[in-house]
Amino acid sequence: MSERFTKGMARNIYYGGGMFFMLLFIGLTVDTVTAIPERENRDQLTAEVAHGKELWEQNNCVGCHSLMGEGAYFAPELGNVFQRRGMDNEAAFKAYFGAWMKAMPTGVEGRRQMPQFHLSDEELNAMAEFLIWSSRIDTNGWPPNKEG
Ligand code: HEC
Repeated sequence: MSERFTKGMARNIYYGGGMFFMLLFIGLTVDTVTAIPERENRDQLTAEVAHGKELWEQNNCVGCHSLMGEGAYFAPELGNVFQRRGMDNEAAFKAYFGAWMKAMPTGVEGRRQMPQFHLSDEELNAMAEFLIWSSRIDTNGWPPNKEG
């Protein structure tokens, strides 16, 4: 009986399959890289937004919160907090955010506590700008659940 699956066939599957998935990988990478600038609103990246990001890192907000699903799951997702708490209204969100940050910790029994960060009004404004900008990134609706 002749051998039906030859070494040559195995080699072709190996190289052909490898090439196919390599091309698929390159295609998807190009697609991602070209889609990102349209989704992240680069033109709205102001110095204040950048300062807010800096404060976000310095104060380790991500140690408890997630942003677009990335981070810790101790506290609510903040990538959508602008829509959830500010109803997409910048002035309303800034008022809420400033009051929230100044009211911490609430000391309410049975609730998880958030520390007081003693941020100035200018710093709170920059953080709010950063959260507003982040919320406008088109993430295809990620994370799927409301509070992350
Ligand atoms: C030690 C953990 C911890 C850190 C660090 C922390 N938070 Fe929080 N945060 C919480 C908890 C817990 C809650 C929910 C409290 C509650 O609902 O009573 C919360 C809630 C919030 C909310 C309200 C979210 C909502 O959906 O109502 C905002 C806004 C917020 N944090 C912003 C920040 C920012 C900005 C930073 C960084 C400067 C930060 N947090 C750092 C624990 C933390």
